[in-house]
Amino acid sequence: MNAPRGIYVHLPYCRSRCGYCAFVVTTDDSSRQAYVTALIREIDLVSQEARRERFDSIYLGGGTPSLLPETDVAALLETLRRSFEIDSGAEITLEANPDDVNAPLARAWREAGVTRVSVGIQSFADPELSAVGRRHDAATAGRALSVLSREGLSLSGDLILGLPEQTAASFAASVERLWEAGVGHVSIYLLETEKSKAIEEDRKQTPDRYLSDDAQADVWLELCETLGRRGFDHYEISNWALPGEKARHNLKYWKRIPTLGLGISAHELWGERRRANVSVIAPYLEGLEAGRRPVALDREVGPDERARERIVLGLRLAEGVLREELESWIARAEDTTLPDDYASWQEAGLLAVSPDRVHLTERGFLLSNEILCRFV
Ligand SMILES: C[S@@+](CC[C@H](N)C(=O)[O-])C[C@H]1O[C@@H](n2cnc3c(N)ncnc32)[C@H](O)[C@@H]1O
Ligand code: SF4
Repeated sequence: MNAPRGIYVHLPYCRSRCGYCAFVVTTDDSSRQAYVTALIREIDLVSQEARRERFDSIYLGGGTPSLLPETDVAALLETLRRSFEIDSGAEITLEANPDDVNAPLARAWREAGVTRVSVGIQSFADPELSAVGRRHDAATAGRALSVLSREGLSLSGDLILGLPEQTAASFAASVERLWEAGVGHVSIYLLETEKSKAIEEDRKQTPDRYLSDDAQADVWLELCETLGRRGFDHYEISNWALPGEKARHNLKYWKRIPTLGLGISAHELWGERRRANVSVIAPYLEGLEAGRRPVALDREVGPDERARERIVLGLRLAEGVLREELESWIARAEDTTLPDDYASWQEAGLLAVSPDRVHLTERGFLLSNEILCRFV
């Protein structure tokens, strides 16, 4: 039997834009009502080609889904449940910004069917939060987590390593506070400075405000140890979970289990085709008003590319990939330096090889960009 599928819904509205963010978002919410109507149309169109499939995860991502009125969240989830075969125990995640969270809203989300909230904490240090234009402070983030936890929702918290003003000690303290707040899932991202000209420039001009790359690497390895001691499984490069708390929806991306993607800029893998919607609201609305999905990319994934994707995505996971598949790919690769590099990654302790699987070690996760780009 096929593994149950997932559905991603992109909600692009944000109150303000954070200094480091390159996601497809807008701070102009004048189109919001029309956008929700268009999403409901898109659900209707897509459901016709997915009637026979079972789904066990929905992910409302953004942007800032927590800004959506709770009646819209309920209407979207209700429409999804009516249109698709969604398991009663499905994981339904909503991404939230701490400053939006309050007890009545948390209750409304739970009553609408949300089971898990992924909160963009980023840091528990106020100078770091204000340096990148976050609207909340550390106290607000703490309150948001306790309100959500009282409502019985599963919690995931995002932190960023590499923020301006961050030190090894302040980062460790943020991890500690996240753990004390009782989250079962943690996502830690290295700040991608190339996504923001202003931050990239600032890092060049005032390097003292930032941890060096070497210091970040030490902090990160320390973090792996700390979370490991606390019982968190480092199951993907940027993700840790307590038992039973892995992100079911996100795992589908790394395991190439088909997921639908609705809303602007949403990507999907469906029937071995990769598709993406347009990234701009106006043509998205126009397309759906005219009764068609506003697709900007639609291409078949051939057998070779599937194998390559299984390697690049699978190596992101602690469980790694099938050794036979990886080694036969390396043996056939046009890049004739790859076999020697494969051996040197093992010698350097970046890759661990067992009789049937290959996976990145913690140090390998840290250098994963350099390794994974060799398979692209
Ligand atoms: C879709 S985003 C936004 C979630 C939510 N709107 C928020 O800001 O709290 C999901 C996560 O990506 C991470 N992120 C966004 N931009 C990043 C960047 N340039 N470098 C590293 N992590 C980033 C943040 O941790 C953020 O919480
Ligand atoms: S980080 Fe979150 S709130 Fe900030 S601009 Fe990006 S999506 Fe919006």
